[in-house]
Amino acid sequence: MDIFSKIKKNFGPLGQYAKQAHGYYMFPKLEGEISTRMHFHGKERLIWSLNNYLGLANLPEVRAVDAQAAKDWGLASPMGARMMSGQTKYHEQLERELADFVSKEAAYLLNFGYQGMVSIIDSLVDRNDAIVYDSEAHACIIDGMRLHIGKRFVFPHNNMESCEKQLERASKHVKATGGGILVITEGVFGMSGDMGNLKAIVELKKKFNFRLLVDDAHGFGTMGKTGAGTGEEQGVQDGIDVYFGTFAKAMAGIGAFVAAEEEIIRYLMYNLRSQIYAKSLPMPMVIGSLKRLELIRIRPELKDKLWIIVRALQNGLKERGFNIGNTQSPVTPVFLSGSVPEATQLTYDLRENFNIFCSIVAYPVIPKGSIMIRLIPTAVHTLEDVKYTLDAFEKIKHKLDSGEYARGGMVDISEA
Ligand SMILES: Cc1ncc(COP(=O)(O)O)c(C=O)c1O
Repeated sequence: MDIFSKIKKNFGPLGQYAKQAHGYYMFPKLEGEISTRMHFHGKERLIWSLNNYLGLANLPEVRAVDAQAAKDWGLASPMGARMMSGQTKYHEQLERELADFVSKEAAYLLNFGYQGMVSIIDSLVDRNDAIVYDSEAHACIIDGMRLHIGKRFVFPHNNMESCEKQLERASKHVKATGGGILVITEGVFGMSGDMGNLKAIVELKKKFNFRLLVDDAHGFGTMGKTGAGTGEEQGVQDGIDVYFGTFAKAMAGIGAFVAAEEEIIRYLMYNLRSQIYAKSLPMPMVIGSLKRLELIRIRPELKDKLWIIVRALQNGLKERGFNIGNTQSPVTPVFLSGSVPEATQLTYDLRENFNIFCSIVAYPVIPKGSIMIRLIPTAVHTLEDVKYTLDAFEKIKHKLDSGEYARGGMVDISEA
């Protein structure tokens, strides 16, 4: 069997829809400056799909620092991996500031959150150790665990009874192997918006011996009094042994970091394969991240504004009878019932007739018969944007419930 002929017959679970979906439902092109108004398919749309939570992407002071750093350093600098020739005082400064901000002894930069997380898991555990993890963990956590040749124990999403049972099983297992236990969960789950039950997990440390790794990609900058994340929000930052945040969301950049006690960070610096064997984070990203972190620290009103929009949107949806699940964060899912063709009709209607762009998920990503719309409010949305969107959602829900979208069949985007 030729690998290429096999692939050409089956493009994979998402790729199989490429013909109908490419360029419209998947890989859509949002054009123009990052903002709440961007062009899609030739027209300006109201955008609810960017993780630019605090609106930092286009703040003039952020753009100025990004541009100046690119001018001063170019994109090449520094050359080589951190360990070999890519170390700079700016990387170290950013690490110190990040560690301070999330109340950990030390931090280490990662070029990408995804690869970084894979390597963190890979380097923290060996064959004798066990991992206990939440069933809705992000793909980067799942991929990290694929490298783990020891045992893993999964608990249903946020089910603390089961988490405790899995910890009992894992404890028995590591007693025999002589290994330890790593529990992995998320601060904020990026699809449903609910928080990992960090407080309850940390409480379980009284009963079991384990270390806790938290992916706070969506919580960093948005949750907690100072924006230090979900650990701060739940008052258990100290109980998080390894804290992970990315720059791809509230920081509106790229790159990520891991923070922990000093010795653990030193160990990671010398063992994280995603960093040892990869080029250092480019200087403009480092300088730009320093500026973003400063703004998160000194301009709390950005987070306050984000939460005004979040509350208006989420309360408005609930008042209008929408099911938004158990979100406790800015991530705002809207759960509807309908088929895949109905989901395409609804999306098309929202985008073309209401000029609203948001992400929509249907089967096979979520169970058959469900449609999930995911709205990401930001500090740069306005209450008028919220009002307009709530009115539009009321109209599309009425159409969905009355069967209007079911009559249309699959939208052919080649005509869109
Ligand atoms: C929960 C979570 N973890 C990790 C990542 C990966 O981070 P990055 O975009 O920095 O690779 C993402 C997505 O960006 C995410 O949502």
